[in-house]
Amino acid sequence: MAQGDSGRGNVRGNSGDMKVLLLGPDGQLGHDFRKAHADAGGPFDLVPVGRDRLDVSTPALEEQLAERSFDVLVNCTGYHKTDEVEDNAGLAFLVNAHAVERMARACERQGARFIHISTDYVFGGDCARNTPLQEGDPIAPVNVYGASKALGEALAPLACGDVVVVRVASLFGARGARGKGGNFVETIVRLARERGHVRVVDDQVMSPTATVDVARVLLRMVSERCEVGTYHAVNDGCATWYEFAREILAQAGVEARVTPCSSEDYQARAMRPRYSVLSTRKLAVRFGAPRSWQAGLSEYLSTTSLA
Ligand SMILES: NC(=O)c1ccc[n+]([C@@H]2O[C@H](COP(=O)([O-])OP(=O)(O)OC[C@H]3O[C@@H](n4cnc5c(N)ncnc54)[C@H](OP(=O)(O)O)[C@@H]3O)[C@@H](O)[C@H]2O)c1
Repeated sequence: MAQGDSGRGNVRGNSGDMKVLLLGPDGQLGHDFRKAHADAGGPFDLVPVGRDRLDVSTPALEEQLAERSFDVLVNCTGYHKTDEVEDNAGLAFLVNAHAVERMARACERQGARFIHISTDYVFGGDCARNTPLQEGDPIAPVNVYGASKALGEALAPLACGDVVVVRVASLFGARGARGKGGNFVETIVRLARERGHVRVVDDQVMSPTATVDVARVLLRMVSERCEVGTYHAVNDGCATWYEFAREILAQAGVEARVTPCSSEDYQARAMRPRYSVLSTRKLAVRFGAPRSWQAGLSEYLSTTSLA
């Protein structure tokens, strides 16, 4: 048995017989995961289960999942409106932590693998940090959303022996973040066109990431049965939100003034990490080096009407 491989999941033999349940199939990442699966010719049986069929906030989640048979559960749900979450900690901890624990318990009961999507916002408390964060670095969330996701990360492996946590960051995908009413790329292009001027924070450095790239890696994680543990799945490179906005408008061909501002000037409800760039070293060794976020952005814009 490979190191860290629990030998579970894919219990039906080859991956073509594997049944994979996808929660959050209509979100930004869930949608692109379904597309990546279809583009690859459907390498396994993928069963999307949307909120209309299963609300993950139900206390009966474990029992409702136990009524279904699956080899892998992929959780792309999340309550991640970072500012709104500050005043709705109960719902955030329910969806991002307690539901995650219930999903993990359901996986343990079935002998299934649990693949759970988490966030770079589990980091941020180390103010002196200026080098990419490794999977094993101590977490230190600075807002309620990050704390709720951090608890989900912690509870899942206590409940199930076959957990893969995939931390992603600053996502942009065709669906636009449903939970946020659009992603950053859409918002910047819209505001720049409406106002001819955008102010964007220049003191938060992160890893802009195309959901298509995360989706393709997720597909391989499922098909190839990667080792259990935590992975960072982001595009290569980093940017401040200001730098990201400038690149978006340049690539989209939108003329507008972009002014940098500080987090203090912006006065968001929730504190944000000043530095949450995720290292892609482990990802590169296991799945090959990711492409740059600029290349991911270029493909994304070519598939939307934004450019
Ligand atoms: N977006 C980012 O920049 C970002 C950054 C770091 C980490 N993440 C994490 O990445 C994951 C995917 O993010 P995303 O951008 O794809 O988000 P998204 O577009 O908002 O999708 C989230 C999905 O979760 C579903 N959902 C929320 N609450 C639910 C509930 N109680 N029961 C059932 N389904 C529920 C939503 O259902 P509806 O479609 O019905 O609303 C939606 O389809 C999340 O775990 C998020 O925390 C996101």
